[in-house]
Amino acid sequence: MSHDVPMNDLKNVPSKSLRATCSWASVIAQAGRLRDVHLNDLFAGDAIRVQRFTRVACGLTLDFSKQRIDDRSLAQLLELAEERDIAGWARRMFAGEAINNTENRAALHVALRAPDGDQMAAAGKPVNERVHAVLAKMSAFCTRVRDGQWQGHGGESITDVVNIGIGGSDLGPRMICESLEAIAPAGPAAHFVANVDGAQLHSILQTLNPARTLFVVTSKTFTTQETMANAANARAWLVKALGEEAVEKHFVAVSSNAEAVQAFGIGADNMFEFWDWVGGRYSVWSAVGLSTMLRLGPDMFRELLAGAHDMDQHFLNTPAAANLPILMALLAVWNYQALGCASQVIAPYAQRMERFVSWLQQLEMESTGKRVLRDGSPAGPTSPPVWGDVGTNSQHAFFQMLHQGSEVHPVDFILPMAADHPYADQHRLLLANALAQAGALMQGKSARQVREELVSRGLSGEALEAAIEHRVFPGNRPSNLLLLPQLDARKLGALMALYEHRTFALSVLWGINAFDQWGVELGKQLAAKLLSPDSAQDSTVDASTRAHIHLLGQ
Ligand code: F6P
Repeated sequence: MSHDVPMNDLKNVPSKSLRATCSWASVIAQAGRLRDVHLNDLFAGDAIRVQRFTRVACGLTLDFSKQRIDDRSLAQLLELAEERDIAGWARRMFAGEAINNTENRAALHVALRAPDGDQMAAAGKPVNERVHAVLAKMSAFCTRVRDGQWQGHGGESITDVVNIGIGGSDLGPRMICESLEAIAPAGPAAHFVANVDGAQLHSILQTLNPARTLFVVTSKTFTTQETMANAANARAWLVKALGEEAVEKHFVAVSSNAEAVQAFGIGADNMFEFWDWVGGRYSVWSAVGLSTMLRLGPDMFRELLAGAHDMDQHFLNTPAAANLPILMALLAVWNYQALGCASQVIAPYAQRMERFVSWLQQLEMESTGKRVLRDGSPAGPTSPPVWGDVGTNSQHAFFQMLHQGSEVHPVDFILPMAADHPYADQHRLLLANALAQAGALMQGKSARQVREELVSRGLSGEALEAAIEHRVFPGNRPSNLLLLPQLDARKLGALMALYEHRTFALSVLWGINAFDQWGVELGKQLAAKLLSPDSAQDSTVDASTRAHIHLLGQ
C-alpha cells in the first residue's frame, strides 16, 4: 500500500504564532512518526479505536477515528491548544472584550442566543435586554404576518417574503430556511435575492403578487451596493403596482444603520436593529434572522437559538479533549500544516443542506483568510480552501480527485441519521454511500487487491499489468464523520455554532483576527470608481481594466 499523504515541511508552513509555541516542534515530530503509518494499521491494532476517537455533545456525534492521529499525537495537539490558550480566548469572547482588534469591537454573537436574563456585556455594556427586546419585536411581527393580521396595502395577507441581502445577510437565513423547509410549519414562502445580477431579482419578482409580498431588506451597513440596487428595483416594482403609500406595508428593514433605513423610507417601527458587535457572517442569530423567523415561525427560530446556545456552553466549559470545536480546529491544523493536506472538503449527506457549504465558506474564509497576525506581522499560510457539495451528487463530480488525485483533501461527512421524507429505502442508500465513501477514502485499494480482482475476472499478461496502477487507491485519506440524529432546528443551530467556534479556535491557533474582513473592500472601492463618469480616463485604473470600461456604457 502506498502512503501518499504529503509530509511536506515547506508547504503550508504554519503561522509565526504556531511556530513560536513549544508544542509545534513536537506536533511536527508526531506527524513525522506517523508518516508511514496507514490508517488501516491504526485500526488493525486497536479494537476500540472508534470509541476512543468519538465525542458526543449537544446531540451531535463526532467520529474522528479516520483522522491520522493516535493517542500521542492527539495529546500533543491538546498541549498546543493549551499553549495557544484557546480556552482563555473563548472566555475573552464571551466576556465581550474587543477581540476584533482592528475595529476595536467585541464579537458577541454568542449573546444573541443566550437566554433571557443572561449577564453578557459588550465593552462593559449589558446586551441581554436589548437582544431580547428585538427578539420579542421580531416574534410579535412574525406572528402577525404569519397569522394574516399584518396585511398588505390592499388588505390582503402576506404569502411571500423576499429577503434582500448578501453575504451574511443572505447565506445563513437562506441555508436555514432550505434546511428546515420539510419540517417548518405552514407560513409564507421565503425567497432570497442576493446577487447584483438583476436576473435573480427579475425571475423572483415574476412569480410574485405585489399585494401579497413582503420585502425584508437585510443589511448591517445598509450601504452594500448589491442590496441597495436590488432593494431600489424591488421598491420601484412595488410602487408601480400599488403606489408609493404601499411601501410602508410591504418593506421592512434589518440593519444597524437607522439613518440609512429612514432615508430609504422605512420607519423606525418597521426596522429591526442589531449591533456593531455582531459580525455579518455571525449575524443570522440576530434580527438578520427575520426572514428565517417569518418562514419557520418564532418557536422554531428559538429552537435554533437554543441549539446554538447548547454548543456555546459546550465550547466555553468543556476541556479540550472532549470539546468538539477545539478538536475539529486542532485536526484542521494537523491536516493542513503538519500533514500538508491541500484543502478542507465539506460533504453534507442531506440534499436540504445544499447551501451549507456556501454558508461555511463565508464563515471560514472571510474569518481566517488573513495574511497578517493580530499585531500586523506576516501570518504565513492560513485558511485552507473550504469547498464541497452534498452527497451523493459530489461523488459524481469531484470525489474521483479525492480518491485518486495527487493531493489529499480531508473531508467532513455530515450525516443526519433520520430522514424527513417517506422514502426510507433511499435514505438507507444515502447513509450507505456516505459511510462507503469515508471508508474507501481511508482503506483504499492496494495493487495486490486490484491484481487479485482482475485475475479473478480473467485478465492476464500485459493487459493485466497495464490495468493495475489506474485502479489503485492509496487510501489513508482522513475524514470526520459528524452525525446528527435528524435535521431539526436545535441540531442545526448546534452544528452551525460548532463550525463558528471551530473557526474561532483556528484563528486563535493561527494568531489572527477572525472578525474583520478588510479583504472585501478593495474590489468594492474599485467597482465604485469604475462606475464614475470619467473612469475611462482615470489613470489610477489599470490599463487592462480600462480596456473594458466601454462595457459599462462609458
Ligand atoms: O462580504 C463582505 C460583507 O461585509 C460581509 O461581511 C457581510 O456579511 C456582507 O458584506 C453584507 O454586508 P451588509 O449586511 O452590511 O449588507
